[in-house]
Amino acid sequence: MADKTVLITGVSEGGIGSALSVAFHEAGLKVIATARNINKMANLADFGIETMALDADASKIKKLDILVNNAGAGYSHTAKELFDLNFWSAVRMIQVFLPLLMKSENSPTIINQTTVLSVIAIPWQSTYNSSKAALASITSSRRYELAPFNIKVIELKTALVASKFLDKPGVSESIVPENSIYAPAKSVVGNVLKKNPPNVIWRGETMLPERFVKDAINKVSHLNEIEKLIKE
Ligand SMILES: NC(=O)c1ccc[n+]([C@@H]2O[C@H](COP(=O)([O-])OP(=O)(O)OC[C@H]3O[C@@H](n4cnc5c(N)ncnc54)[C@H](OP(=O)(O)O)[C@@H]3O)[C@@H](O)[C@H]2O)c1
Repeated sequence: MADKTVLITGVSEGGIGSALSVAFHEAGLKVIATARNINKMANLADFGIETMALDADASKIKKLDILVNNAGAGYSHTAKELFDLNFWSAVRMIQVFLPLLMKSENSPTIINQTTVLSVIAIPWQSTYNSSKAALASITSSRRYELAPFNIKVIELKTALVASKFLDKPGVSESIVPENSIYAPAKSVVGNVLKKNPPNVIWRGETMLPERFVKDAINKVSHLNEIEKLIKE
């Protein structure tokens, strides 16, 4: 695996990207960890992982086998900013790094981080959900389009994972399992590096289909109370 290179976006300490970086590094790959704030990746120095500002000159990277579009956020942004971040940044990253991936003879792979909320409607999360649903949709199309070039395209449909995601202002409170982050990252990397990886990898605390959790969703989002007030 030593000659296999993976670039990951959104690798701030305490997040999924950071856990994935460590898991890929431990699997023997050369990891290029990127984030908008390079100081937030200081923890990776201990592992000898290369870090780079997300907006650095991409032409400095000469070889790439796996691109992981992980950077993303919930309601701390406007709707336009959320689509720019959760959808357009991944589209742009693929465009920029496709020439290198096409040159790779080492199972070139694109991994897009979406969410189970791309298929489960949650009140107050519409912009986040729809931006990730758009990413899920383009991921499926790119899988067909890039198959002739032997580039695999995988979707990570992650459910609740402990990270900095919920610390951001405006993100709905949820209960997440503590210390859950490294175990899922290790099993994701194990799946990605299989000879025939699955098209969609589901990880995190499992969520039941919407029809089973509708009452719970209404309760958590206080929609029951709002409906009552409206109808009074
Ligand atoms: N945690 C969960 O339960 C969960 C579930 C499903 C899907 N996901 C997805 O997993 C991915 C990683 O999230 P996480 O849980 O690890 O959250 P996180 O700890 O907040 O990490 C998100 C990463 O994205 C970066 N980012 C946020 N806004 C950005 C912007 N405007 N421009 C550039 N970079 C930006 C963050 O940088 P800063 O540190 O500088 O903000 C950070 O590096 C996201 O795409 C998220 O939607 C998470």
